[in-house]
Amino acid sequence: MSLFSNKESVKEKKSIVIYFSRADENYAVGYVDKGNTEIVAEYIREITGADLFRVDRAVPYSSEYKKCCDEALAEKNNNERPAILKTLPNIDDYEVIYIGYPIYWGTLPMPMFTQLEKLNWQGKIVKFFSTHEGSGLGSSENDIRRICQGAKILPGMEIRGSMVKTSKAKVENWINQ
Ligand SMILES: Cc1cc2nc3c(=O)[nH]c(=O)nc-3n(C[C@H](O)[C@H](O)[C@H](O)COP(=O)(O)O)c2cc1C
Repeated sequence: MSLFSNKESVKEKKSIVIYFSRADENYAVGYVDKGNTEIVAEYIREITGADLFRVDRAVPYSSEYKKCCDEALAEKNNNERPAILKTLPNIDDYEVIYIGYPIYWGTLPMPMFTQLEKLNWQGKIVKFFSTHEGSGLGSSENDIRRICQGAKILPGMEIRGSMVKTSKAKVENWINQ
């Protein structure tokens, strides 16, 4: 198989975006109806036809930014695995898994750990991305490598949350890498 057809095939493989994203009040954007990470997940769907699966905390974080920060920090410090509304039972139908999340206190929000740790990653291709306001990928790549044992993990992408509305071309370039 040529290098070209390898590259093409990543985009053509059956894929899903597993992501966390929060509407309501947030840093740098005020009150929003749709979270930054969800906007990126929808770009990926438009570009690749991927399915989307949003991880929702069973008890949502506070709609107020500061309270949400406190809740998320306590959860992280206690290394919790908070209950989630719906669990994706498996990823058997998918070859490429996009993992998307806002950086919360330097890494993925804890509800993503709840979901990702339940899946069998053997033989999967993983592409991961964060939205953030300064931390980039933080330490999330280490966490993803630890969780997604047996997967081939491709380079991650980070986007400023407040820039997602003008970042579709960046997302497309990363997908095609
Ligand atoms: C609880 C909480 C913790 C956050 N921690 C960080 C952080 O450590 N570093 C950072 O750059 N941004 C941090 N942010 C900003 C978010 O990562 C950023 O706004 C992101 O785009 C939000 O995505 P969403 O709208 O999809 O939820 C935090 C936001 C919240 C609500």
